[in-house]
Amino acid sequence: MHIKNIVVIGSSGHGRVVADILSQMSGYRVAGFIDSFAEKGTIRFGHLSVLGGEQDLPALMAEHQITGGIVGIGDNWVRSQVAAKVQAVVPSFEFVNAIHPSAVISDTAHIGHGNVIAANAVINTNATLGHHCIINTAACIEHDNRMDDYSSVAPRVVTGGNVTIGAYTAISIGAVVKHGISIGEQSIIGAGAVVLKPVEAYSIWYGVPARKMGERKAGDKYL
Ligand SMILES: CC(C)(COP(=O)(O)OP(=O)(O)OC[C@H]1O[C@@H](n2cnc3c(N)ncnc32)[C@H](O)[C@@H]1OP(=O)(O)O)[C@@H](O)C(=O)NCCC(=O)NCCS
Repeated sequence: MHIKNIVVIGSSGHGRVVADILSQMSGYRVAGFIDSFAEKGTIRFGHLSVLGGEQDLPALMAEHQITGGIVGIGDNWVRSQVAAKVQAVVPSFEFVNAIHPSAVISDTAHIGHGNVIAANAVINTNATLGHHCIINTAACIEHDNRMDDYSSVAPRVVTGGNVTIGAYTAISIGAVVKHGISIGEQSIIGAGAVVLKPVEAYSIWYGVPARKMGERKAGDKYL
């Protein structure tokens, strides 16, 4: 099998989870981390260190025969900004999916690129993931769901069938979303929420049952 050399962009907690997933996949060899906020040479996972920042990518890719990688940053908005920066510095950069070997993914699911699918996640039939989404540990994305680009579901989130999750929207740890519900873009569903009604874009909902608790703008912090 041809092994591709790749990098993980972002070296904090989520970045290390992504490196861990990639280390368990066949087909990739992680050369190291790209992180503008960490000192070059800092060891972050096993023997893997920070190789440099995004601006160093052209030289690093030539030096290590790197073809692409994945952005390992948990915040949806920051992940999109960093992915755009990488694309601007290296237009040919190939974003790969990090899929843990224990994840169960239907052959009829549609998966874009740059996605993280963590240990024990389930993605059921005809679900569609855009690009750069996170399906975190033991989350369950049911049949016919749609997750738009840069959306995320935290550990143990469960959605019913035919749920849609808009771009940049984050569903927090342990939340449950009833079948058929649409959640607009740039919204946050709080930890442990039970979502029974449609959620409009740019809003914050939590509680059991979940209610609208506030509004937000693109890029507002939530982690
Ligand atoms: C929804 C969320 C973003 C709201 O954050 P926030 O606006 O900063 O809210 P605050 O912490 O100021 O809390 C405001 C009030 O709402 C309550 N509250 C906050 N989140 C809640 C939740 N998920 N469910 C029920 N009540 C909640 C707080 O207890 C507090 O109540 P109080 O005023 O009686 O003390 C946040 O609480 C949350 O759930 N984050 C998810 C984090 C997560 O999943 N991390 C894992 C990622 S892998």
